[in-house]
Amino acid sequence: MFRPFAPKVFQLGYVALECPDFERTRQHYAETIGMHQTDTGHDGEAYLSIGYEHHNIVLRKAEKKALTHLGFQLQPGTDLKGLVKEFAGHGLAAQVKSDSQPGVRELVEVEAVPGVVFQLYPEIVAPAPGFKRTGVAPLRLGHVAVISSHGDKLIHFFRDILGFWFTDTIGSGLANFFTCNRDHHVVNVLNVPQDRVHHIAFQLKGNASHAMACDALREAGVGVKWGPARHTAGHNLAGYHYDPDRVLIELYTDMDQFVPQLNMCEARPWHEHFPMVPRDWGLHELCAWETEFVFNLAQG
Ligand SMILES: [Fe+2]
Repeated sequence: MFRPFAPKVFQLGYVALECPDFERTRQHYAETIGMHQTDTGHDGEAYLSIGYEHHNIVLRKAEKKALTHLGFQLQPGTDLKGLVKEFAGHGLAAQVKSDSQPGVRELVEVEAVPGVVFQLYPEIVAPAPGFKRTGVAPLRLGHVAVISSHGDKLIHFFRDILGFWFTDTIGSGLANFFTCNRDHHVVNVLNVPQDRVHHIAFQLKGNASHAMACDALREAGVGVKWGPARHTAGHNLAGYHYDPDRVLIELYTDMDQFVPQLNMCEARPWHEHFPMVPRDWGLHELCAWETEFVFNLAQG
């Protein structure tokens, strides 16, 4: 059902990871993906920008790989203290943090479910270091997929507390897609008994960029695990590879555009259903082109 209220956030801004293989992972994002390191934190964290905002990826050395937090940008004019109060009303402990990281003056931090920490911020500094001309050189950070053993609670947080729109499921609720803007999905919650990031997705400039991205990956000795091929849910052209810590990275283009007022995606010639309203896709329907997955996408 259409809710006339806008979601509390409108875009994914950054993903922060803890990584055992820190230096190789940093190099992967800086050189192979093609990002600028804009800052180094007190603990040696690397802040990396695609080309405009202060950071889109944050890496910190740790013994175990982990998702540290997800950053989403709040709608303009959000009252941060009011937001903390509202979270408290849902039984969630949240706090306003000031100057907790470079580039973000104020944010609300809330752990929606154990292991998934959100940083919701009204503004991020945009030093615009420029887009690299080497490596994959993506356009933007588009979405993140999170595996959670508290999947139902995380879905509740996205849909009922942050106000995301539901757009699709795969496998009767195994993968659950939500958006806070026009992209078919900004988050994908995989409801299985594990707790980790499943994949981080960067949007490329255009469909021809997939070939150049695959060549850049090959030059760096990174294998492409699947694709580029067209998904069903979201209909994005997507290719997947692992970063050095085996976090899956998706490179995509051509994602369905969701129109919340109509509760459907804009019609496209390659759609299997008209209107393309939120639906449940079968596990055998991951790829519109029936390209076989030779690796298990569900395992990541
Ligand atoms: Fe994805």
